[in-house]
Amino acid sequence: MLSPKKENKKYKIAVIPGDGTGPEVVQQALKVLEAASKKFGFDYVKTVFDFGGERYLKTGNTLEDKDIEELKKFDAILLGAIGHPQVKPGILETGILLKLRFSLDQYINLRPVRLYNEEFCPLKDKKPQDIDFVVVRENSEGLYKGMGEFKNKGTPDEIAIQISYNTRKGVERCIRFAFEFCRKRNKKKKLTLCGKTNVLTYAWDLWERTFYEVAKEYPDITTDYAHVDATTMWFVKNPEWFDVIVTDNMFGDIITDLGAMIQGGMGIAAGGNINPQGVSMFEPIGGSAPKYTGQHVINPLAAICALGMLLENIGEKQAAQAIEQSVITVCRTKLKSLAAGKMGYSTEEVGDLVVNNL
Ligand code: IPM
Ligand code: MN
Repeated sequence: MLSPKKENKKYKIAVIPGDGTGPEVVQQALKVLEAASKKFGFDYVKTVFDFGGERYLKTGNTLEDKDIEELKKFDAILLGAIGHPQVKPGILETGILLKLRFSLDQYINLRPVRLYNEEFCPLKDKKPQDIDFVVVRENSEGLYKGMGEFKNKGTPDEIAIQISYNTRKGVERCIRFAFEFCRKRNKKKKLTLCGKTNVLTYAWDLWERTFYEVAKEYPDITTDYAHVDATTMWFVKNPEWFDVIVTDNMFGDIITDLGAMIQGGMGIAAGGNINPQGVSMFEPIGGSAPKYTGQHVINPLAAICALGMLLENIGEKQAAQAIEQSVITVCRTKLKSLAAGKMGYSTEEVGDLVVNNL
């Protein structure tokens, strides 16, 4: 959908297994990649990078500028998870994950929310057709920019300021992407802006003005607005109202965890960090889940879905669709649950099930 299929091309895929259960789920995704390449006749070469907590503890390095330059040579990146129990929170997240997103200008975080099996939905009476939407999260600005300061640190008069940084260009490119995506998706053709215009009167004034200006170029798309707090309410009460949602970095982070829960949990939720003109990176959004490391119980479907998104992004649409279809079949006919340790199968067996149903 995002780029045309290239004939006779050997895709260069960078793989960052990362921390915790990241390597285990990535291994299953790579198994599916190998099977899909045979079935759909495309060629690829993968290069594995050891960025993550272990490497940081050994070398003190998170990610260097030369690593970024290296990654720019790839067609896509598959990421497992970043986060290590022995490393203070924030170091790996900003030093690796956010650095990748920012340096590669992956300004969209695309997070599909789709229920594959109603038995896995915590909401009463919601069916697969009721939960099928996509969140377009701005991925390069907002509160994630890291701007702010302390005043009088450590004193009773301490002040901590954290700035939400929004540029017209940054907001507009995200909103434009969302309109285009909604048009191509061709479902309800409805784009909802999720914000907080009633309180955050600078940032959301810019977002709202830009949204309605760009909307004039998309008369085929119905526009809607919901405050972020109300959005969380509608996710639970009427998720069927949504088609595509566009929002800023922080709100997108928050609402997509809720989105993951209503689609069945972190075990199935995947996302893409997209640079439409450059290298994009795909990841299961659940994190490194260290307590399940090495136990063969973690659900690899989110990583496999991330691989599906990766293949769609590089132009292997058929393979992407087949992978999603196989995941749907496995969810509907095999798994007892999507949660770690409760699937009724091991991590490796779930990977095999997806391969066998391709
Ligand atoms: C996510 C994660 C990251 C984020 C963390 C690990 C920095 O929660 O991808 O949603 O906040 O973006
Ligand atoms: Mn998150």
